[in-house]
Amino acid sequence: MSEEKKRILTGDRPTGRLHLGHYVGSLANRVKLQKEYETFVLIADLQAITDNFENPKKVEENVRELVIDYLSIGIDPKITTIVIQSQVPELAELTFYYMNLVNLGRLQRNPTVKAELKEKGLEKNIPVGFLLYPVSQAADITGFDADLVPVGEDQLPVIEQTTEIVKRFNNLYGKTLKEPDTLVGSFPRLIGTDGKAKMSKSLGNVIELSESKESLRKKVMSMYTDPKRVKADTPGKVEGNPVFIYHDAFNPNEAEVNTLKERYKKGQVGDVEVKEKLFIALENFIKPIREKRAKIEKDPAFVDKVMKSGSEKGREAAIEVTKRVRKSLGIDNYY
Ligand code: TRP
Repeated sequence: MSEEKKRILTGDRPTGRLHLGHYVGSLANRVKLQKEYETFVLIADLQAITDNFENPKKVEENVRELVIDYLSIGIDPKITTIVIQSQVPELAELTFYYMNLVNLGRLQRNPTVKAELKEKGLEKNIPVGFLLYPVSQAADITGFDADLVPVGEDQLPVIEQTTEIVKRFNNLYGKTLKEPDTLVGSFPRLIGTDGKAKMSKSLGNVIELSESKESLRKKVMSMYTDPKRVKADTPGKVEGNPVFIYHDAFNPNEAEVNTLKERYKKGQVGDVEVKEKLFIALENFIKPIREKRAKIEKDPAFVDKVMKSGSEKGREAAIEVTKRVRKSLGIDNYY
């Protein structure tokens, strides 16, 4: 039966703890779909190194953290395979073949890559390894024969390049690779606590899924709201207001949220009350995650096992695809 299941492949760079933006962008989908799909989740340490090659220690330290984050939010290692990218050298091999199918200008025009280069101040001095990460991501996705890739909205231009590579490969060498679909979450790009367009660690506007209660309270109480609203009796704006966006995303009590919105629009509720209620909703959401994390942290041998057995199983899947790719390229049968 499991052989008929369609496959999911998705992943994250191990550079820090996962946050609420990751959850509504992609993680919730992974947890929900893991029973329905044969799921592989990739800890993209090689990709993280393209971006942290001067500090690989940061990547090394965050691999385990990411595994623990996954397990804490409900990724079940009995049904989902957690794979460490560097332990599957076939992915680097596939990257090498795919590099021929992409030109420099196309990579430089990739909006996600462009935005990241700008953020890091690297536009004038582009590291080739970093520029190539969409090609390596195409290897990740095709290397597991993925049917579906659940990701946050910012990743869509990267997956689009995968599709182009797949088409080109299949055209040139015969149908070998699978073309993936994408799936973005209910809030594909969650706004930051500071009202900036995107929750992102580098912008310092995140709430982590393992945030402590004290720190959560502090972050919620200092969240950006409607800047035009100086007093509680000034009518306020709900649309685009991060506090209400988070209520919509994380407060299961819809009636409470609707009442708060109505009162806010009429100037009948203070920011503090809206934030207090948001804090309660978020604490209810994060508390079980935090507690599960604390338990898992006490069992490092279990985490080791998840990483090792997942990477081994992942490698088997990638070896199969790589054999097929070698065959299509005609480099499998010299002697
Ligand atoms: N680029 C993704 C990110 O920064 C991580 C990633 C690596 C990924 N390989 C992947 C996502 C394959 C989806 C599929 O979050």
